[in-house]
Amino acid sequence: MMKYKKVTGEFCLKGKTAIVTGGGGAIGGETAKMYARKGANLVLVDIKNNVFQTAAALEKECGRTVIGIQADLRKDEDVDSVVVTVLEAFGHINILANIAGIVDLESAEKIDFSLVENQMNVNCFGTFRLSQKVGQVMIKQRTGGKIVCVTSQAGFIAIENHVGYTMSKAAMIGMIKVLALEWAKYGINVNGVAPTVVRTYMGDRAWKGEVKDRMIKAIPVGRFAEADEIAAAILFLSCDESNMITGENLVIDGGFTIQ
Ligand SMILES: NC(=O)c1ccc[n+]([C@@H]2O[C@H](COP(=O)([O-])OP(=O)(O)OC[C@H]3O[C@@H](n4cnc5c(N)ncnc54)[C@H](O)[C@@H]3O)[C@@H](O)[C@H]2O)c1
Repeated sequence: MMKYKKVTGEFCLKGKTAIVTGGGGAIGGETAKMYARKGANLVLVDIKNNVFQTAAALEKECGRTVIGIQADLRKDEDVDSVVVTVLEAFGHINILANIAGIVDLESAEKIDFSLVENQMNVNCFGTFRLSQKVGQVMIKQRTGGKIVCVTSQAGFIAIENHVGYTMSKAAMIGMIKVLALEWAKYGINVNGVAPTVVRTYMGDRAWKGEVKDRMIKAIPVGRFAEADEIAAAILFLSCDESNMITGENLVIDGGFTIQ
């Protein structure tokens, strides 16, 4: 059973250790900042080597321990070494934010199979690979845990040219539900957040010109999301205030999918 804990509304993460994948990216970077401000020590994981600078800057800014690890989530050995490094440094893992991801847009008729496969490998299998290893640690620790995955609106509605991305994000949504079901008895919550277009390098590259204008018109609030608005939802799903939520995929789309 997941025990009831009285909450204060402070979204406190003091004493927690959090892993943030995609920590060198936009949503990952904003999430890491919010986690650090709430008291967590952090491990930022990214395939890009800017992760070291990002970690050092955050450590200086927030006065928490922040470690950067360059790792490719498609590789078993890299994922193993992330878990080993975190345990050596902190002795425990409380939170995993699966934020790393890629997108390659092309019509279903033309897309090269390797691009579909790569999106599955990073977004879906990479996320599962690390979640499984971290889940095993959390189960052994017997202190519960939080796993939050960034999915997408593309995981449950059809958007042109998104076939590989949609396959990977829809699979993530399915994975979240199964992990949530199996791990609730260990006090582990597993949830997703599903953004609409977010104004990051990834979002700006995918949505330009006339397609961008049309998309903004279709969003009831009349704009794209910002990375900090996604990070805030991830924070909520990472602390005790959301203990009663699991297996959920929180849509952050300014109303795009209301109808
Ligand atoms: N930006 C959007 O419009 C949008 C919308 C919905 C969902 N999302 C999702 O949000 C997440 C973050 O996106 P973002 O907008 O911050 O993009 P971003 O490109 O700034 O961040 C993604 C990060 O993932 C890292 N990454 C890619 N492949 C990796 C691998 N194999 N191993 C480790 N790290 C890897 C990248 O280096 C990058 O730093 C992604 O999962 C994306 O699919 C983004």
